[in-house]
Amino acid sequence: LSQYDYLIVGSGLFGAVFAHEAHKKGKKCLVIDKRNHKGGNVYCEQIEDINVHKYGAHIFHTNDKDIWDYVNQFVEFNRYTNSPVAFYKDEVYNLPFNMNTFNQLWGVKTPEEAKTKIEEQVKSSGITNPKNLEEQAISLVGIDIYEKLIKGYTEKQWGRKATELPAFIIKRLPVRFTYDNNYFNDKYQGIPIGGYNKLIDGLLDGIEVRLNVDFFTQREELTRLADKIVFTGKIDEYYNNQFGSLEYRSLKFETKTLDQTNFQGNAVINYTESQIPYTRIIEHKHFEFGTQKKTVITYEYPDEWSPGKESYYPVNDDKNNAIYNQYKKLSEKDDSVIFGGRLAEYKYYDMHQIIASALKKSNDFL
Ligand code: FDA
Repeated sequence: LSQYDYLIVGSGLFGAVFAHEAHKKGKKCLVIDKRNHKGGNVYCEQIEDINVHKYGAHIFHTNDKDIWDYVNQFVEFNRYTNSPVAFYKDEVYNLPFNMNTFNQLWGVKTPEEAKTKIEEQVKSSGITNPKNLEEQAISLVGIDIYEKLIKGYTEKQWGRKATELPAFIIKRLPVRFTYDNNYFNDKYQGIPIGGYNKLIDGLLDGIEVRLNVDFFTQREELTRLADKIVFTGKIDEYYNNQFGSLEYRSLKFETKTLDQTNFQGNAVINYTESQIPYTRIIEHKHFEFGTQKKTVITYEYPDEWSPGKESYYPVNDDKNNAIYNQYKKLSEKDDSVIFGGRLAEYKYYDMHQIIASALKKSNDFL
């Protein structure tokens, strides 16, 4: 008889939600993580009493009342609304593209004027069959928005010229003809009061967690401990990269503590010109309306991925998707393991989607 019902590899949101649901149903779980902390990519590190989003800015948003109620059981959320600002040369623009942005770009005041301006620019581009990302973007929003707010940012993100990127990366570009700087359209939005670690601690309350344990260094012993494995790491690694490694885009973060109360006046500022190597500066205290004496900021640099670097964004092109599908087929024949989460499914998921997926999978299996 095994010591545990489930060995859960990874203490990120997927692993933590699955563990919580299994524990609630009387299952004995062991959660392991190779990092020295719980929470996966939502983990926050405290610096100067500020919750620093160590793996990139995380803003919780959802339209699903059940998911919102679910997370609110563990921690209360504040009223933070994501309203990023873009700096392009010496100009300042509101995001997402809305009436404020159009006013800043062209001085237009009414939705009618803004629509006319965009339509004129789209028309004068003459693009009917976009062959790359640049043409696709211009055909959707015109040259000004593209040049000032999309081009440099996207080229930095992907490390390639927009003319060399496929058009499908940008399917739509939401434009909003209201003076509304709220980035998300979802009904519910906020940051956990006291930080994301509270959410993870609440989910994992009463569950055994072992940190600094890499599944692959003790695979056999760990597998023997439990009846079933829930695996939230990389699916290609789980199957010894037999069909090849899945590619990612990576990021580099440079974090600084500053001896001032307020550096940039907003949590998120995007730098959309190509000459500046970082894409954003995050000032963490503003996520929680912090009044600390100092401030902590993080420069976010897109980075070429190679094995060993943190895997942030899957590169879901044809080549990688084909490799992933081979792993997926293999996993479907494997009853000893349940795969879930962004690395196991090789898919970009927002937090609310990960929670929904973990709840669904735990419901199916428990
Ligand atoms: P996650 O990566 O969090 O957890 C997996 C865990 O498994 C990790 O802790 C890892 O150490 C562990 N692990 C892996 N292999 C292992 C092994 N071999 N042995 C032991 N442990 C192992 N979403 C959103 O809703 N709003 C937002 O604003 C953002 N912002 C954002 C910014 C950036 C830069 C990124 C990349 C992503 C976001 N997200 C987001 C998405 C969000 O980060 C994501 O949905 C969840 O963190 C995914 O949770 P998982 O549990 O799937 O993976």
